[in-house]
Amino acid sequence: ESYDMGGHDTYMHKEISEQADAVDRVLRGRIDDRFSTVRLGGLNLDAREARAVRRVKILGCGTSYHAGLIGAGLIESLARVPADSEPASEFRYRNPVVDPDTLYIAVSQSGETYDVLAAVQELKRKGARVLGVVNVVGSAIARETDGGVYVHAGPEVCVVSTKCFTNTVVAFALLALHLGRTRDLSVADGKRIIEGLRRLPAQISEILEREDEIERLAHEYADARSMMFIGRVRGYPVALEASLKLKEISYIHAEAYPASELKHGPLALIEPAMPTVAVVPDDDLLEKNRAALEEIKARSGRILAVAHREQEKADHTIVVPRNEVELDPILMGIPLQLLAYHTALALGRDIDKPRNLAKSVTVE
Ligand code: G6P
Repeated sequence: ESYDMGGHDTYMHKEISEQADAVDRVLRGRIDDRFSTVRLGGLNLDAREARAVRRVKILGCGTSYHAGLIGAGLIESLARVPADSEPASEFRYRNPVVDPDTLYIAVSQSGETYDVLAAVQELKRKGARVLGVVNVVGSAIARETDGGVYVHAGPEVCVVSTKCFTNTVVAFALLALHLGRTRDLSVADGKRIIEGLRRLPAQISEILEREDEIERLAHEYADARSMMFIGRVRGYPVALEASLKLKEISYIHAEAYPASELKHGPLALIEPAMPTVAVVPDDDLLEKNRAALEEIKARSGRILAVAHREQEKADHTIVVPRNEVELDPILMGIPLQLLAYHTALALGRDIDKPRNLAKSVTVE
């Protein structure tokens, strides 16, 4: 706890506020404009090896697992390699098929989470190649893996992760771009993503400047006993992470569902006392998402949307800047960190040290 709070009341607030600089740091020195790709010095994966990868499996816990879900989406869309993310402990105990053509990636802020470390050790015992996407330099997971990408978020003290989540997703965007450019991602698309990545720090600052508005919204929803978070495809892991953040620090029950699954069950829960936070980017699924909002409205559910423009069915919309669609999850997550923060603050919670949780779980 020796880090200075730098004038903030909590580490969480400090860490949320640091995200523009943190993203700048994870990008710094890694972009290769000449070939519209990135240089990842510690990856230990040459172009031939990168091309031989048939599948990517990402493993992490908590927020890192969620960052891995977004990472898997980035790898599938930019490199067109099938990819998914799974909680590390679940993976380890289901006697997984370990395939030599699969690239395994362990994700961890601390680099010390036992469940992730044990999964890495199990994989290595079976001869797999495992990379790390890790924040703490020289940590156990960084040492055990065959190479990887450091996240460079800087020290994170608050038990719940914010800036490291954002930086981890950006690190995955770099990795996906790198894998993509050894395969079929064109120079033009590489350039498009690089330009999008470069826009992120200023856009993050733009969102953070709207904190007062988000604080007011948090006060409106802080009376909820339970909240629903929905999103589709890229928006779904954003909903998962936002619901985790809210439950961790405010102790409000929250659950996340793919918007497409609403009608298969959770719609039964919708009523005025159960507000919904909807992640609604202006992508090819916008109309589908709007239909879900209509379903909720028809059941008198309150809706808070995070979107690229005002959503008429929503009671409130937090408008975030546009970037490339692949990078939407990065910006859409940020106002929801502030929403969780201000909700917890309004309820008088111990934000940096939520009950029953530890920053890093180094035992099973
Ligand atoms: C703990 C923390 C979570 C964190 C998870 C994984 O459960 O409370 O906030 O996401 O560990 O931590 P890691 O350091 O591996 O990312």
